[in-house]
Amino acid sequence: MPRRRPLACALLALAVLTGCSTGGTPGTEPTPTTSAAPPPPTTAAVPAALSPSVAPDLVPVTGSTGDPRDARYTTTFDVPGLPAYRQLADGVVAGAVAAYTSALGAVPDEDDRFGRFTASSDVVAAGGRAVGIRVTTAAAVAQGTAGVVRTASTAYAIRPDGDDPGEVVVAADLLTADGRAELTSAGDALLGADPQVDDLRVTADGSLVAVVPGAATGLQVPAARAADWLSPAGARVVQELTSDPVPAAPPAGGAGGTGVDCAVVACIALTFDDGPGPYTARLLDELATAGVHATFFLVGQNVASRPGLVARMAAEGHEIGNHSWDHPQLTHLDAAGVASQLSRTDAAITAATGGTAPTIVRPPYGDYDDAVLADLAARGKTAVTWDVDTRDWENRDAGTTTTKALAGAVAGSIVLMHDIHPTSVDALPGLVDQLRQRGFTFVTVSQLLGAQLPPGAAYARGPER
Ligand code: NI
Repeated sequence: MPRRRPLACALLALAVLTGCSTGGTPGTEPTPTTSAAPPPPTTAAVPAALSPSVAPDLVPVTGSTGDPRDARYTTTFDVPGLPAYRQLADGVVAGAVAAYTSALGAVPDEDDRFGRFTASSDVVAAGGRAVGIRVTTAAAVAQGTAGVVRTASTAYAIRPDGDDPGEVVVAADLLTADGRAELTSAGDALLGADPQVDDLRVTADGSLVAVVPGAATGLQVPAARAADWLSPAGARVVQELTSDPVPAAPPAGGAGGTGVDCAVVACIALTFDDGPGPYTARLLDELATAGVHATFFLVGQNVASRPGLVARMAAEGHEIGNHSWDHPQLTHLDAAGVASQLSRTDAAITAATGGTAPTIVRPPYGDYDDAVLADLAARGKTAVTWDVDTRDWENRDAGTTTTKALAGAVAGSIVLMHDIHPTSVDALPGLVDQLRQRGFTFVTVSQLLGAQLPPGAAYARGPER
């Protein structure tokens, strides 16, 4: 991280050298000109995207190509009457596509090429005549362990009004050059990394929140401090957004959390079986980046060997279910055998998380019968299978896994994947993007089915809308 000279010192030095201090006469100590310094930047959660319904005039523009070795899905917005926004969004997507196609072409063996590109758009601020729109892109070019490259950039559009043609301001231009330097210094000092000025958010009270790569939180600049850093265009954007703001959505709830009504929105539950394993940490990273809570059906002996990952799952709001101790067909066991499989796994999970035992059970292979359900009922547990089978264990292919998930997904779906295969983890970011573009909201199984499940019941899917 490059060391930067604090800008305030630089300005003060300049003022002293040129004799242009504002408070005193030349040759005297400068005197403070403000009674109270504005509050310093702090850390804060990066606000979630708003519902597109807060800006109903925006027109989604979608495009896709179906080439299985070069699949692209793009959603941007048109802002009516403001062609400059269309041009900007097209440019952002074109730049990301160029980088993606270059990387795809650089994969030496054509048979290894497996390109996935998605561009999606979210409304991140709305108020007055202004709307903030973030365009995110994700790209991967090969199967297996090839990395996924993501970009995020936010721009603010002030809609035209009468003779006023409106304007488009990219996030970085909200600030003066000095303001950007101040933001960077504050990010380095508080979070040890440069904030992303391309993805700077304006909140409903006029404070700014910058995404900081690799940090769990963003950098928040209070409105009074941010005002000193704004460019004239930035001041116009903030003026609009704070004149009649749409408040930020509540953060997505964890297991049992509130705020999602699956009777109203198209919910989907991603489930991962057989872990935790060597790729689970990377999956948790991807889920955190994507802002998705998943459900993990854990194998007890793996919990015992990787309890830290299980604690992390619980801490990050994922739901945990019981997938037996060592993955036998429960229908081949007697009642004592089933009880042992379940109770050993419960004990390992509660030891790892410090929480309560799971109430949801996924019988290995989805194999259960009346006797198994009776055992579950006696233990207060419910069987949960799936309606969308990605067969990721068989295809070991991120693209095929994605295609199968998309092909089967409907409102209320429970999608079966396995975090013990790296290709399934590879599939996650693109799959999330594409499901979001199709209007799905991600929930845990308990959010999907309802917190109070009847013991001994079995579910393969949640309620359709
Ligand atoms: Ni399994």
